[in-house]
Amino acid sequence: MLIQLKNLTKTYQHHDGAINAVDNLSLDIPKGSFVTITGASGSGKTTLLLILGGLLRPTSGKMSYNGKEIDLHHDEELANFRSNHVGFVMQSFALVPYLTAIENIMIALNVKNSNTTENRKRALELLEWVGLEDRTTHYPKELSAGQQQRVAIARSLANNPDLLLADEPTGNLDPGLSEEILGILKEINLKQKTTVVMVTHSPMAAEYGDTRIQLQNGKLHNLHLNDVKINVEVSVN
Ligand SMILES: Nc1ncnc2c1ncn2[C@@H]1O[C@H](COP(=O)(O)OP(=O)(O)OP(=O)(O)O)[C@@H](O)[C@H]1O
Ligand SMILES: [Mg+2]
Repeated sequence: MLIQLKNLTKTYQHHDGAINAVDNLSLDIPKGSFVTITGASGSGKTTLLLILGGLLRPTSGKMSYNGKEIDLHHDEELANFRSNHVGFVMQSFALVPYLTAIENIMIALNVKNSNTTENRKRALELLEWVGLEDRTTHYPKELSAGQQQRVAIARSLANNPDLLLADEPTGNLDPGLSEEILGILKEINLKQKTTVVMVTHSPMAAEYGDTRIQLQNGKLHNLHLNDVKINVEVSVN
């Protein structure tokens, strides 16, 4: 298993009362799987994704990566987990507007390696991988929405993540562009063996998952597996 979640709860304190955004959830994510998460607005999808990526601490529960428990209270351990293993793709692309496509990727590479020549070469490879080798010097505003999302995907691969997390990556795209982006994510999953966890509102996009999870009030409501080898533990409360 790449990730194992055990009795994970995230409680947000609010003056209207406490909200269990994720509620005693246990889940195994197999290496190389493509997991899609659906559920109504407010069902805890983003909260779960942020916890998976080490960006948000759960209130209680455990998380293991490759069979080893991550100390969720240890900032440095979480930071290392993120930078060594996790890539993020967001709905809003979050590209730096005053940097070109290739520079947007190079700044992500610079975090680990200061060799500009090597980074330029690697950034070009990543842009080729998403089919944008002829748009390297375009600024985000000079790219279509689908192309901007492809740059964002290329950037998310900069640290060679084992785990790619995507929150509504096609939320701002029309159906044609959505399929293009979903196709790229599927290709990354199949060719690079990257485990992908994608949150989506679209039933069509959810079909790309070999494991499909539906959340309701922070709990697993429904689970669909195409691959019988996958072992997922559903917590019974
Ligand atoms: N920082 C916060 N403080 C208080 N409550 C929060 C906070 N963030 C999220 N929540 C609450 O937690 C619940 C889950 O939120 P979350 O963002 O995970 O939902 P979601 O499934 O991603 O929804 P959407 O589909 O609208 O993006 C919601 O009820 C939300 O109001
Ligand atoms: Mg959300």
